[in-house]
Amino acid sequence: MILETIAIILAGVHFGIPLLYYVYLKHAHLNKHWNIRIDESYKPKVTIIVPTYIEAKFIRDKLDNLYSQDYQKSLMEIIVVDSKSNDGTADLVKEWAYKHTDVDLKLLEEPERRGMVPALNYALKNCKINGEIIVFTDVDAFWDADALAKITKYFADPNVGAVTASIIPTTLADNFLEGAYRNYYNQLRIAESKIHSTPVHNGPLVAFRTHLIYKMGRLPSYTGNNDSTPASLIAFMGYRAIQVEDVVVNEPVRQGQFRRKIRRAQHLLLSFLKTKQYAKRMGFYDPNSAKTFERIWKIEWWLHVINPWLLIICVLILTTGAFYASPVTLIFLGIGLLFLVLRPYRTWMLQQFYLVAATIWNLWTPEIMWSK
Ligand code: GDD
Ligand code: MN
Repeated sequence: MILETIAIILAGVHFGIPLLYYVYLKHAHLNKHWNIRIDESYKPKVTIIVPTYIEAKFIRDKLDNLYSQDYQKSLMEIIVVDSKSNDGTADLVKEWAYKHTDVDLKLLEEPERRGMVPALNYALKNCKINGEIIVFTDVDAFWDADALAKITKYFADPNVGAVTASIIPTTLADNFLEGAYRNYYNQLRIAESKIHSTPVHNGPLVAFRTHLIYKMGRLPSYTGNNDSTPASLIAFMGYRAIQVEDVVVNEPVRQGQFRRKIRRAQHLLLSFLKTKQYAKRMGFYDPNSAKTFERIWKIEWWLHVINPWLLIICVLILTTGAFYASPVTLIFLGIGLLFLVLRPYRTWMLQQFYLVAATIWNLWTPEIMWSK
């Protein structure tokens, strides 16, 4: 009986905290004003950095997609940093550049592959960056023509340090699940951004104020991501790091989705485990201006680091109970399983599983350089 009570309390906390947080954010903040100076006529120079590794299939479409942005070409600079792809990616970039001389494109070839973040750092170090804003984007992410213009308008406010788009996966098999995942999280991230900042940013389109990236020195390489970690550092510095609702990026659901989900969870988890300490150690942590963000960080930290384990313990208790044919646990386990017909619940459970799997995988390897 004691064990059953514990299991029920664990389940209550596990589902209750995120649910309350979501309801609170949705009602109190999601539709609030930004409290940011947004100026559509603000057109800074932008440097778009695209890391590539074995991307021959997508790279031309990606460059075409950037080329067709409604943004003055003279205000755009593209840097492709390739890490010795053996499928001719770099040659395709050269060919493309030869045909499109009206846009400033540089190709940087890393002498050896060390992973995405090291490649981006290589570009930051070895390339003159002329943009006031740096945008990172993945080769397989495609933007609407007005994405860049819509992103930059938020940087008119000097307090804004990072801006990321919302994500919708393009229609491909099983995108139902993926869609639900993004929808719930998009609302959460946007509402957090309206309060101050969100610690989770999206690699398909994430923009940073250049001088803040240089203040950081380089992208920290302990997580393997180029989005959430630098954005959180910027928020700890006291600048706003926001996800906006009016820019949406399509991302195809690729093969190997499962492993990739775990890898992303690994990166996120490492970001939650290490970024605050890193910010303090490096002198990026401003206790006064980070106060509001700190509250968001604490809840998200809990949701990523601790909360999934409550569910695991609860399931363990219930299954052991069921094994001994305890009727109460059987009922609870049955209800828990029945709920799986509900899509949001299923998505939630999967994400919990990814986070737990990520913790275990991180003990093995942090996935700074992943197989393609
Ligand atoms: N130069 C270089 N070197 N580029 C790389 C390397 C590398 O070793 N590894 C991956 N890339 C490039 C890919 O070519 C792609 O453009 C981008 O980095 C993202 O890699 P994907 O393999 O497509 O992984 P993903 O879609 O799961 O990555 C996402 O998750 C990360 C967070 O964990 C992206 O959204 C990243 O931006 C994000 O940081
Ligand atoms: Mn990708």
